[in-house]
Amino acid sequence: MNSEQIEKLLGKKDRASLGFYPTPLYKLEHLSKDLGIHLYIKREDFSGQSLFGGNKIRKLEYLIGDAKRQGAEYVFTYGATQSNHAMQTVEACRKEGLKPVLYLLAIVEPDEKNLKGNLLLDKIMGAEIHIIKINEGESEAEAEGRMYRLGKEHITRLEAEGHTCYDIPMGGASIVGTAGFIGGFAELQRQLDQMKVRGDYLFHANGTGGTMAGLAAGRKLIDSHMKIVSIDVMFHDESYKMSRVQLGNDTLRWLGVEPVLTADDFNMDSSYYLPGYEMPSKGGTEAIKMMAEKEGLLLDPVYSGKGFAGLIDYVRTGKVAPGSNVVFLHTGGATALFAEKEILGELSV
Ligand SMILES: Cc1ncc(COP(=O)(O)O)c(C=O)c1O
Repeated sequence: MNSEQIEKLLGKKDRASLGFYPTPLYKLEHLSKDLGIHLYIKREDFSGQSLFGGNKIRKLEYLIGDAKRQGAEYVFTYGATQSNHAMQTVEACRKEGLKPVLYLLAIVEPDEKNLKGNLLLDKIMGAEIHIIKINEGESEAEAEGRMYRLGKEHITRLEAEGHTCYDIPMGGASIVGTAGFIGGFAELQRQLDQMKVRGDYLFHANGTGGTMAGLAAGRKLIDSHMKIVSIDVMFHDESYKMSRVQLGNDTLRWLGVEPVLTADDFNMDSSYYLPGYEMPSKGGTEAIKMMAEKEGLLLDPVYSGKGFAGLIDYVRTGKVAPGSNVVFLHTGGATALFAEKEILGELSV
C-alpha cells in the first residue's frame, strides 16, 4: 500500500480539523555534523491548533470527529496533572464546542494557588478539572485505577440525566486515536520520498503507546525498511507490548485492513526513562541542552528530551551506524519547561 492509499482509507473516517498538516520535516545541520549522521526532525510539536501543539492533535482529529458523530456533549479524559494530552483535548473541545472534563493524577503535586504549565492552560480554557491525589499507602497504579473509576461514575451520572459523553483513555490511546499515526507515518513517508531520502531510523518518545502502534501499523502497510525505535518514558509491564500489538491490529481492522502486526514490529527501549515518569534524567537534561544550544529548538524533560537522549546514545554506542538517515519525531511537550521544578530538575537552576 502507498501513502495515498492509506490516506484514502483514513478519509472515510470522521475527522475534526484541528491541526495544520503536513507537519514540517527538515534536516538539522549542526547536530547532523556533530553526531555524524543525517538527522531530520518531524515537527509534531508544530501540529497546531495553538502554540502548544504535539502528537495528540493528530489523534484528537479522529477522536473528536468520532465524538461529534456520536453527538457527544461532554468529552472525558485522563492523565497526569501536567498531561499534554489532557491539555490538547481541552483545546480541541473548545474549538469544536464540546465540554471537556479532566481527571488528573497528581504524580507531582501541583500548588493549586500557583498553577503551572499545562494545568494552568487547562484552567484558563475553563476545563472541569478533578485532581486525584495519591493517598498514603496507595500505589500510583492504584490511584490511577481510582481515577478511572471516578471518571466512569461521573459519566454514568451524566448519562442517567440524558447527556451524551465521549470517553478518551489516557494519551488518546484508543483504536480511533491510533489511526492518526497510521496517517502520520504515511505523511512522513511521502515527505521522505519527496526529499529523496531513504529513512533508516525513526526515533520517538513512547508513553501510552498509541503513537507507536499507529506508526508501526503505517510502516507495515507501506512495507518501509525504516526501523522505528520507541524510547519508553515510563515503566511498562510484560503485557504492555502485546496489548500495543493488539491496539495496532484492532486499528487496522477498524480501517478494514488485515491485522498484520506482530511483536517483531515493535522495538521498545526502556533504558532511558529512569529515575521515573515526570522525573528528570541526566541524559534527558543533556539532550535538551544539546538541541537548544545547537539548533535553537526546545524539547521537554518528560517525553521528547528522554526520546532524544535515546537517539544520541544509539549513535554514540554505534547502534546507529555513522551516515544513517535518522528521523526524530518531535512529539511536543515543551509546556513542561514551565511546570513544577521537580519536573525540570537541573534545567531550572
Ligand atoms: C510530548 C509527548 N511525547 C510523547 C508522548 C507519547 O505518546 P503516546 O502516549 O502515544 O505513547 C506524549 C504522550 O503524552 C507526549 O505528551
